[in-house]
Amino acid sequence: MRVIETVAELQALADRERAAGAKIALVPTMGAIHAGHLALVCEARKRADRVWVSIFVNPTQFEDAAELGNYPRTREADLQRCRDAGVDAVFAPECDEMAPPASQTWIEVGEAARPLCGRSRPGHFRAVATIVAKLLLAAKPHLAVFGEKDYQQLTVIRSMVRDLGFDVEIVAVPIVRETDGLALSSRNIHLHPEARRQAVALVRALDAAEGAVASGEHDSARLLQLATAEIDQAPLARIDYVELCDADSLGPVGEKLADSALLALAVRFDSPDRGAREAVRLIDIRVLDPRRATSPR
Ligand code: PAF
Repeated sequence: MRVIETVAELQALADRERAAGAKIALVPTMGAIHAGHLALVCEARKRADRVWVSIFVNPTQFEDAAELGNYPRTREADLQRCRDAGVDAVFAPECDEMAPPASQTWIEVGEAARPLCGRSRPGHFRAVATIVAKLLLAAKPHLAVFGEKDYQQLTVIRSMVRDLGFDVEIVAVPIVRETDGLALSSRNIHLHPEARRQAVALVRALDAAEGAVASGEHDSARLLQLATAEIDQAPLARIDYVELCDADSLGPVGEKLADSALLALAVRFDSPDRGAREAVRLIDIRVLDPRRATSPR
């Protein structure tokens, strides 16, 4: 497995692979590689001749320095996991290579970046879109693979690729979950064991709403109420948002669900000892389709 640190070297490799007729898949990550990322690698492997993973903790998409400082950096373990998963190359640039301090150009993102996480994280999605654009320009992949857990990120990236005419296919991979249903996330390791136990309230909330839709409940307010009630049963949970929005545009839904809707949750789980000071913010989603019966998760 090659480890590449500069854009110039990655572009030169991409040119050689493309000239030789190889299909390239890129899996962008910020490291702390877990089974969720490996599912993206697996999907990439099915669809391409070369699988490349990028590992770059993008400083511009963090709101505060503490969050950036606490982000897990596990380079050697990540490289080993990629090697074991049969990744062909890892792009692991230094910060200045991808986000030089003199850089002044941003991708401005539209409506899809405003609701949900966009409300409490202004600037986050434009930073994500900008770094993903730079990664696409560096790796020149035929396809790029993202997880559905970061659904709003996926929606923003899809619209950027469409609006700017990037010649790349965006592939989405379903959420990978622990056996109790908690969605895999690099943040899970920061949960206090009691908060970890209670965090299963997220998937219970999604299941409750999905079950209700399957039984014919299409009233948006009622579905939100059902989901919220499940989360409220976890004493350490503090809701950031529980929202329904259009699954394609992330725009508002009507009083009754007519088309596919995204049920999106963001919840902070406090630590029983240190309270909000050690809270971990988790997100989870489910697409609810009022025209279809429940699909197993
Ligand atoms: O999902 C992530 O890990 C990051 O937001 C991404 C897409 C690699 C951009 O920094």
